[in-house]
Amino acid sequence: MRKAKSAYWQKIVDEAKDEQGNPRPFFSMAPMEAVTDTIFRRVVAQAGGPDIYYTEFTNAASMVHPEAKFSIQGRLAVAEGEQMPIAQIWGSKPEAIEGAAKLLPEMGYEAVDLNMGCPDGTVIKNSAGSDLIRHPDTALALIEAAKKSTLPVSVKTRLGFYKVDEYHDWLETILKADVQVLTIHLRTRKEMSKADAHCELIDDIIAMRDRLAPNTLLQINGDIKNYQEGLALAAAHPGVDGIMIGRGVLEDPYAFNHEQKAHDLSESIALLKLQLDLFDEVTKTVTPKHFEALKRYFKIYLRGFAHASQLRQQLMETHATDEVRAILAEHEGDLVQNEDR
Ligand SMILES: Cc1cc2nc3c(=O)[nH]c(=O)nc-3n(C[C@H](O)[C@H](O)[C@H](O)COP(=O)(O)O)c2cc1C
Repeated sequence: MRKAKSAYWQKIVDEAKDEQGNPRPFFSMAPMEAVTDTIFRRVVAQAGGPDIYYTEFTNAASMVHPEAKFSIQGRLAVAEGEQMPIAQIWGSKPEAIEGAAKLLPEMGYEAVDLNMGCPDGTVIKNSAGSDLIRHPDTALALIEAAKKSTLPVSVKTRLGFYKVDEYHDWLETILKADVQVLTIHLRTRKEMSKADAHCELIDDIIAMRDRLAPNTLLQINGDIKNYQEGLALAAAHPGVDGIMIGRGVLEDPYAFNHEQKAHDLSESIALLKLQLDLFDEVTKTVTPKHFEALKRYFKIYLRGFAHASQLRQQLMETHATDEVRAILAEHEGDLVQNEDR
């Protein structure tokens, strides 16, 4: 088994075991802005979550700016009793990254991830996210800055900015920077999420890692739908240490379940209700959340039964969590009966 660079990551490697107690890759839920907040992380945990979670990406400059501090609070909020996620931060200024990374331990964070893959125009205009692929010297300065904190530092990035081939130089740069984990989303910035993930490059990337940084863990990301697909991919490419899943969880909240089984509609409705309750809790105690943003989740929980789309349609017209609860209560008997038939 690979020896990680820190006790934090070694524990994650050591604890990732299959049902027979054999080592398996660790699984994480990808950082997703406006998705992987404390609410959704707790819902996914309830559904049978991954080994590791990440926060949404958070602007390091806002974290260290006294007036902007409030605006990022919700992003880094972690509930009592919730498994501590890894904080993902973004920026282009070493001072901000250092300052932000140094704030994280007081908040209870034990690891920091640097975003070097975001394709968003605003982030790129700030010379951050995937723009760092075009500015490797800045990327290296940011890694060094983050290392001035006490936290293990990892990097999540893409293959290149314009062209797939850029990965030779770009990943070499990151691997030589002695990071704990390299998470690679197998696409370029230009490909956004449209082209298929370049799984054909995994073995070459493993070989690069083995040659340049044998103790850097390699986490693969892109188009992996669930635990079973992740296991198969890692088995086909020995040397993959971790599997990161993003949109798969938005299709199936049970994506990390080790056993693939059908879930009752009542279980899924219970997850939706949990999400509604946590939404209210966070709105009351941490930061106001936008109700409209909840609507993207209705289709995750309510699908695959007769009248599912009608019910979703009705829920799309709602304006508050209590309205959603009332509609679910009105239909719940029918829904469960419907499922029994
Ligand atoms: C709604 C959404 C928000 C995202 N936000 C982030 C983010 O904050 N940080 C990040 O590194 N990647 C972000 N990503 C990219 C994902 O982490 C992941 O790399 C990408 O979705 C590919 O993995 P998948 O095919 O498993 O979804 C986001 C993706 C989506 C769909």
